Amino acid sequence: MGTSTVLTSSLSVNHSGLNSYICKDRKYRMNSDATSDAIRSNVEHWKQLQDDDYFERHPCYKGLADLGDDTAAAIAPLVTLQPDMKVVVIGCGFGRESAHLAPHVGHIYGIDVNERILDKAVNYLSERSVQNFTPVLADHYKTQIPAGIDFVFSIVVMQHLTRDLVRDYFRSLGEKLAPDGVVLVQFLEELFEGVDRADAELRPYEPSISWTVAQIVQLASDTKLRFVEVRSYLVTPTALWHWARLAPAA
Ligand SMILES: C[S@@+](CC[C@H](N)C(=O)[O-])C[C@H]1O[C@@H](n2cnc3c(N)ncnc32)[C@H](O)[C@@H]1O
Repeated sequence: MGTSTVLTSSLSVNHSGLNSYICKDRKYRMNSDATSDAIRSNVEHWKQLQDDDYFERHPCYKGLADLGDDTAAAIAPLVTLQPDMKVVVIGCGFGRESAHLAPHVGHIYGIDVNERILDKAVNYLSERSVQNFTPVLADHYKTQIPAGIDFVFSIVVMQHLTRDLVRDYFRSLGEKLAPDGVVLVQFLEELFEGVDRADAELRPYEPSISWTVAQIVQLASDTKLRFVEVRSYLVTPTALWHWARLAPAA
């Protein structure tokens, strides 16, 4: 485990509640670690959602629209983009955030679940003259993404995956990071009792899975990454967004 840890937070919940999450989480993790090596995955269910035009039907997205550059605002305080960076976007969707990232970096590998959504991303990005984007199927990312990745980014994705898939991404992409590479990933934490023990169900729906800061620290340790910091923002009265920055272990 690394040494540098900065926690900043606009946390406005009572701390004894948060502590009780952490204690229960520890018990849960010990139990679940003891079970099986098989990865519990909801990728097939997400393929169904995308075949059914997830973004076009979604009440927030309402189609394949540019919702503004929330990506730069999230990245700027934590990571300095460089024109030669090799970037991975986990859960690139139709290319919304890749369109904003692409002009500032060398190349983007955008991972999503099937050809249907990746074709939409390629079209969306080519309409915006983006030429440095490679679509990558989630089923093949381990072989298709090269080593020497400088930056791994993800927004509004981890809350929709099984915990095993999140761990698998961190472990596998962590192994591909350049020595000074950076991982910047957004997690959701809903402020309700027991959310730390929930996992995504294996059916076609949009899960809402919480990760506490303690769980993110453990995730870094489990996947041989160094936890650098988490910045937390209260995004609704009952939900935090954690922006977690991790780095290769020294
Ligand atoms: C809520 S959308 C967010 C998309 C994009 N990041 C954005 O903010 O517009 C979640 C995305 O994650 C993708 N996804 C689901 N499971 C995934 C997996 N195992 N690997 C990669 N992407 C996945 C979905 O297909 C979908 O495009």
